[in-house]
Amino acid sequence: MAQKNTKISLMTSFILLVTLFLFPRISVCWGTTTFLYSGCTQQRYTPSSPYESNLNSLLTSLVNSATYSSYNNFTVVGSTPQDVVYGLFQCRGDLAMPECATCVARAVTRAGDICRGTCGGAVQLDGCFVKYDNATFLGAEDKAVVLKKCGPSVGYNPDAMGSRDAVLAGLAGSGGVFRVGGSGGVRGVAQCTGDLSSGECQDCVAEAIAKLKGDCGTADYGDMFLGKCYARYSTGGAHDDASKAHGKSGNQGQKTFAIIIGSLAGVAILIIFLAFLTKICGRQGK
Ligand SMILES: *[C@@H]1O[C@H](CO)[C@@H](O)[C@H](O)[C@H]1NC(C)=O
Ligand SMILES: *[C@@H]1O[C@H](CO)[C@@H](O)[C@H](O)[C@H]1NC(C)=O
Repeated sequence: MAQKNTKISLMTSFILLVTLFLFPRISVCWGTTTFLYSGCTQQRYTPSSPYESNLNSLLTSLVNSATYSSYNNFTVVGSTPQDVVYGLFQCRGDLAMPECATCVARAVTRAGDICRGTCGGAVQLDGCFVKYDNATFLGAEDKAVVLKKCGPSVGYNPDAMGSRDAVLAGLAGSGGVFRVGGSGGVRGVAQCTGDLSSGECQDCVAEAIAKLKGDCGTADYGDMFLGKCYARYSTGGAHDDASKAHGKSGNQGQKTFAIIIGSLAGVAILIIFLAFLTKICGRQGK
């Protein structure tokens, strides 16, 4: 009897351990560095100009700052007014600090490749947003649609659409820069960049949600990215874009995940082996 209890409590602590380790990992693993969109300005800077060195120091500041903050803005002033460069980054509100820094570093690298030589650029990955320009955009609301993606229409399913609308209404109603919601199989997320006032954030998110409902109709997932905010939902099933892309990217989070699984499997085998030994020893004792 006592032996059975020990085994049960061992199993319970094992399951608890697995749960504790896996849950935060799963949310973080879900497509953190999946590429969503980019944009570059028409204007180009002169190579090896003061602007280029200011831009490089701005990008370095963004990456460094992401190790301790989920939002920041920078203005690098040059010797002349035309060399000034503005920039910001915003991580998804549920990212832990190391993942935020990893994401921003990837976004900056991506921007450097895609927007080589242009004065301004913006890159949105699943987990973070980076933008810089020589014209200031900090603190200004921007509701231009930059990315709209609707999943396949599932036909009108009153239950799914009812949950979807309820989740979106929840997102619109809850304040804050980062908003998540869920009901049934439906998941929703909305986020503003940290430079908006709460009123501007509310206005931007409300518009993204209205557009999402209007444009994506009965689609089983929808993504609506405006200049300074976004709203997304998925009704479960088919929205595996992010996880598919994530499978290809093989990022750091996934490796950590595999290591943890591996170690836990090792611990499990050890526990089972020890339990087995105890049982045999117990029998011999009798
Ligand atoms: C940004 O840089 C481009 C190219 O040097 C220049 O034409 C433009 O006027 C600049 N914009 C601002 C706001 O300084
Ligand atoms: C930019 O950052 C500074 C401090 O780092 C902060 O005081 C300011 O409010 C920020 N501006 C915007 C528009 O977010």
